[in-house]
Amino acid sequence: MTRTGENDHMIRLNNGVRMPALGFGVYRIAPEQTTAAVLAALEAGYRLIDTAAAYDNEREVGAAIRASGLPRSEIFVTSKLWPTDYGYAAARRAFDASLDRLGLEQVDMFLLHWPLPADFSQTLAAYRALEEELERGRVRAIGVCNHNAANLERLLAGASTVPAVNQVELHPFFTQTELVRTHRRLGIATQAWSPLGGVNVYDAAPGRARHVLQHPVIAGLAEKLGRTPGQIVLSWHIQQGHSAIPKTVHPARMAENLAALDFALSPDDMAAVSALDTGIRGGDDPQTVTAATYPVHIRR
Ligand SMILES: NC(=O)c1ccc[n+]([C@@H]2O[C@H](COP(=O)([O-])OP(=O)(O)OC[C@H]3O[C@@H](n4cnc5c(N)ncnc54)[C@H](OP(=O)(O)O)[C@@H]3O)[C@@H](O)[C@H]2O)c1
Repeated sequence: MTRTGENDHMIRLNNGVRMPALGFGVYRIAPEQTTAAVLAALEAGYRLIDTAAAYDNEREVGAAIRASGLPRSEIFVTSKLWPTDYGYAAARRAFDASLDRLGLEQVDMFLLHWPLPADFSQTLAAYRALEEELERGRVRAIGVCNHNAANLERLLAGASTVPAVNQVELHPFFTQTELVRTHRRLGIATQAWSPLGGVNVYDAAPGRARHVLQHPVIAGLAEKLGRTPGQIVLSWHIQQGHSAIPKTVHPARMAENLAALDFALSPDDMAAVSALDTGIRGGDDPQTVTAATYPVHIRR
């Protein structure tokens, strides 16, 4: 993965496909809110929408894309396969179902949502099904989420396509420096989920939330540079060459977050944000995930 010279805000994936660096995530947006939120995001200028079968809003994402009037080729759509649909045959059926729900003939990127480390043969079989869809041209790039270095190596040992992307929890409190180094070595683009640290807040017990955006270093940089805390954090992601997919339902924040592309942090300011790493993730450790960890029912 390399940054393209022609447009600094696009990431050139390892198969040559170009992906916007800053996208819009729709996890935890209720289906009835999703079409309006995605339409507002497209209007604000986002061109990457990140959904998943498990988010229960692929239909509404597809409706927004059609309602936007934008040419299909201008919008980069990512969706994901849920572990209960792993294994070759189940993955093929689930891929079809995702495209049906989205109402698309082709999706730009399709990712395995989690590895199943204790049952990796099923993970690999699902990935093989995605490789076939890639060959058929029904998806332009394939990849994974939440794979650590060991699971990436296991995947590469059994697959013929290097994942274009590994989408992982990554924010100033959990910077994943080692894993990012592995991605660079393997030619895999790093995409940050919970880029603003949302995962540390959503389900936190009362008084236990760890707010990235309220950290004094982030707030201080925002004050110093006349930017918002969200912009400081997103600029930090983009300047490292990562993709980030913040979620918000508020149009003002959509515009605010996108404006993170308009400025750069100095090397010292970048280092100050990176120094906030605690090494502690907010979400589940992917190594412990099984198909039963998240009992998600995928609406057909
Ligand atoms: N692959 C995976 O396993 C995985 C896991 C989790 C997430 N994801 C993807 O990553 C996306 C983003 O992750 P996330 O939703 O967990 O976390 P996030 O984007 O880091 O944080 C979202 C939270 O921050 C708030 N927010 C957004 N912009 C803000 C701003 N400028 N100022 C203050 N608050 C702001 C949002 O609230 P409002 O909506 O009220 O503005 C929401 O509560 C998801 O939508 C999904 O697409 C993937």
